[in-house]
Amino acid sequence: MRHVAQTSAAPLALEIVKAEGSGLYDANGKEYIDLIGGISVANVGHRHPRVIEAIKKQIDAYLHIMVYGEFVETPQVQYAKLLTDHLPPSLNSVYFTNSGAEAVEGAMKLAKRVTNRTRIVAFNNSYHGSTQGALSIMGSEYWRNAFRPLLPGILHCYYDSFEALEEIREQTACIIAETVQAEAGIIAPSAKWMQALRKKCSETGTLLIFDEIQTGFGRTGKLWGFEHFDIVPDILLLGKALGGGMPLGAFIADKKLMDAFTDNPVLGHITTFGGHPVCCAAGMAAMKVLLEEKIIDSVKKKEELFLSLLSHPKIKAIRSFGLWLAVEFESSEINKKIINDCIAKGVLTDWFLFAPECLRISPSLTISEKEIKKSCQVILDAIC
Ligand SMILES: Cc1ncc(COP(=O)(O)O)c(C=O)c1O
Repeated sequence: MRHVAQTSAAPLALEIVKAEGSGLYDANGKEYIDLIGGISVANVGHRHPRVIEAIKKQIDAYLHIMVYGEFVETPQVQYAKLLTDHLPPSLNSVYFTNSGAEAVEGAMKLAKRVTNRTRIVAFNNSYHGSTQGALSIMGSEYWRNAFRPLLPGILHCYYDSFEALEEIREQTACIIAETVQAEAGIIAPSAKWMQALRKKCSETGTLLIFDEIQTGFGRTGKLWGFEHFDIVPDILLLGKALGGGMPLGAFIADKKLMDAFTDNPVLGHITTFGGHPVCCAAGMAAMKVLLEEKIIDSVKKKEELFLSLLSHPKIKAIRSFGLWLAVEFESSEINKKIINDCIAKGVLTDWFLFAPECLRISPSLTISEKEIKKSCQVILDAIC
């Protein structure tokens, strides 16, 4: 507490010494079922053997060798190919970053550079990261205010609101939206609104950016969240599960757009460690596990199991979208007490940034039925 900077006066301060699958083990040998998966990171479970093997293989070859983009680093090339093979044809060029927020920053810059416009539309209750550009588009004045001045030209609108579409004009460089709002407590938009959003962006030459940093990699029951809405963004943002447990982010667009970074100025976006070879090797192994072991096929059934088990008069509502649930209680105080009880009884859960009255369930997609049943029983016991 003295030497490691803290972001809260009361951190959980669990000391985890080992993680495997959906299990976390603390320094006293206590086991926890992890219902949050590192906040939507461990989609194939913690330390999947194929991810560990890929990391070991890469560290035997090389670690960091050169800043991003100058050398041919095979893990980057292979992972970019795998990602784009599973994306629509227009999302064919991958810029790897270190984190989700850096992917957001890069995409905002790309949109300004390509459109030669400066206005950006974002949404209330959206979370896109903590750096200054990402913070500027964060959808809550409470979290933004202390850090002003932030970027000018940002307009925040209501998510899933047709009125918001009127704000997308010829001067708008881009609109940035989570495909399903995460920290708002799993808020899914209607397909009609998403399709109208796409149409308005195309009509005005505005780039549509989807933040799939939490929704990507099977979380919603499809590989990408946007597949639920039958539309394709101009720029896709990935992070979290992208690295298979290692730090990695990416923004993905058409090469015709991405090439804007190569000219006037050259080196339009640079990073030393972005696309680190060990992270790319780990992420690629995790994505292969996700696809080859058909893990996403089990998401719907597991979501339904959670929904069927979590029934209690004190639960006000449950919103879910895949293996991703927000369990709503009367107040944030009640929720925090339940969360603390769950942790004491060996189930790790959490709340949402903009919905502190909701308990977070975003486990590894590999969580077993037995683990789901056990953790739901612990939650129900904690409610009583
Ligand atoms: C939807 C979304 N976008 C962006 C980010 C920022 O990612 P990072 O924390 O890797 O910078 C997060 C992180 O929680 C997120 O949930």
